[in-house]
Amino acid sequence: PLLAPLDRLGRPLRDLRLSVIEACNFRCGYCMPADRVPDDYGLDAAGRLSFDEIEALVRGAARLGVSKLRITGGEPLLRKGLPALVARLARIDGIDDLAMTTNGTLLAPHARALREAGLRRLTVSLDALEPALFRSLSGGRGEVADVLAGIAAAEAAGFDALKINCVVQRGVNDDQALALVERFRGSGHVVRFIEYMDVGTCNGWRRDRVVPSAELRARIHARWPLRALDAQYRGEVAERHAFIDGGGEVGFVSSVTAPFCGDCHRARVSADGRLYTCLFSAEGIDLRPTLAQGELAVAERLAGLWRARADRYSEVRGSADAPRRHVEMFLIGG
Ligand code: GTP
Ligand code: 5AD
Ligand code: SF4
Ligand code: SF4
Repeated sequence: PLLAPLDRLGRPLRDLRLSVIEACNFRCGYCMPADRVPDDYGLDAAGRLSFDEIEALVRGAARLGVSKLRITGGEPLLRKGLPALVARLARIDGIDDLAMTTNGTLLAPHARALREAGLRRLTVSLDALEPALFRSLSGGRGEVADVLAGIAAAEAAGFDALKINCVVQRGVNDDQALALVERFRGSGHVVRFIEYMDVGTCNGWRRDRVVPSAELRARIHARWPLRALDAQYRGEVAERHAFIDGGGEVGFVSSVTAPFCGDCHRARVSADGRLYTCLFSAEGIDLRPTLAQGELAVAERLAGLWRARADRYSEVRGSADAPRRHVEMFLIGG
């Protein structure tokens, strides 16, 4: 790495989460509620970074030590030509982990092309197995059968050990947790339960809707005993637990009850080229002028911005000086 900057809290930059599109074919209430975001919401193609700009960005980031890249949205599979972009990113020196997060509905027709382009890992969001509940959680847009078909297509295309992410809301879908565990135990895929967060400005977050991971873990443990596993790397977001009977593992992302800002090595860039140094940043920083100047300029600019970073929102949530305005989750993909 060229400069390998540390931020003001001593944290290096390791992961880049890159949104390739702000539009989504779902309207999950915790992210992009239908009554707040119109059906046709989205930038025109010119408002989005081109593949050339994205490549310059990732090459610049790799020069600073970024080795992990996650493609997000909105829904990334809505971006035209995505496998061609994946192929360009997969070739970049230094990027040794290339993953994507998707809602899975368009995965079945695209899984093979993505795999052949060099995508290594997939995370599929899945909040419920019960079809009517799934439909309602997606804002009336999604069918769980399509997501399950997408997962099967990903397996057939050679993706192994998918991650299945479930955002848990008390009284809404927490009754789905055991069914999700049962469905994927023994499959090699890892279900991860995510505490409902106060992201964005329009999801009407309420703390009493958060199911603490400890509570959920106890519910699962009562049915299928678990034991804690060590993290696979410093700063891993999910806490891992294995089934004692050998049925694989589950994970918990506990940003509300157990914040992990101390090891936060993540930067996010929106589809229009703004850098967000925290999931809860109010304002992004426009990188577009720098992207036109090539990867070295990008590396220098990113290093300067990273050195100024002091974000730790989840650790100060609720306090008087916690920022109130946050970027919408669908712009930076979680
Ligand atoms: P792996 O690389 O597979 O370990 O994935 P990951 O856990 O880094 O990423 P993933 O996108 O699967 O993260 C799961 C969810 O955790 C996200 O959708 C967010 O809801 C939440 N999350 C991830 N990173 C952060 C973060 O930096 N801060 C907060 N508050 N939440 C995060
Ligand atoms: N709370 C927690 N996670 C969220 N995501 C989106 N909105 C929220 C929220 N309010 C995450 C989920 C989803 C991914 C795309 O973004 O993990 O699967
Ligand atoms: Fe779309 Fe994902 Fe947001 Fe749901 S959580 S609206 S699938 S971007
Ligand atoms: Fe990182 Fe911000 Fe999440 Fe803390 S709240 S872990 S600083 S993205």
